[in-house]
Amino acid sequence: MKGVVFTAFLEMVENQFSENMVDDIIDSAQLPSGGAYTAVGTYPHEEMVSLVVALSERSGIGIPDLLRRYGKYLFAHFFLTHPSFFLKVHDALSFLGGIEVIIHAEVLKLYPDAQLPRFETEHRSDNQLVLLYESNRHFEDLAEGLMLGCIAHFAERIDIERESTEHGGRRKERFTLTRR
Ligand code: HEM
Repeated sequence: MKGVVFTAFLEMVENQFSENMVDDIIDSAQLPSGGAYTAVGTYPHEEMVSLVVALSERSGIGIPDLLRRYGKYLFAHFFLTHPSFFLKVHDALSFLGGIEVIIHAEVLKLYPDAQLPRFETEHRSDNQLVLLYESNRHFEDLAEGLMLGCIAHFAERIDIERESTEHGGRRKERFTLTRR
């Protein structure tokens, strides 16, 4: 995973928990990298899992909740660091509908070694978007948090329903987003 994902995570922990919490989870996660991340580096995604598990143990907050919370934070962070992605998009469903072919496609140009998930659009209308997420890193909860962050960013009222599906042994998560 790109270092930016780790530096933003530790920044969230410092802001929403404490500086000591950052040191504590880095110590207890026993990371091969030692926790010294640079935004442009690349690190095993297992280190992110270890950090979230350590934060869950110390905070008593469940792992899915922490990943959703982190996703929301990360979206706001991306808005600050990649303002050009937001220039022509004025609502959450349009932004999310372009996640694969516009946003992550641009991300791949900026970071050619990024390991991105795959999003398929199953259905799209004015008030509904159905996205199928697939990744062998299984960050379904992080994906939901990023969607929640996007909805909050555009200040909209959109419900998210989730369902796990399996096709030929490959798990996909179906997110149905419906504007209220
Ligand atoms: C401006 C907006 C966005 C930018 C700049 C961005 C960029 C990135 C980057 C740099 C990574 C890390 C890749 C790696 O570690 O190698 C990533 C991963 C990821 N992105 Fe995005 N992203 C954006 C929006 C979103 C949104 C809205 C979603 C959800 C619909 C999303 C879903 C994910 C997920 C789930 C991952 C984790 C990797 C995985 O699941 O396999 N991203 N993104």
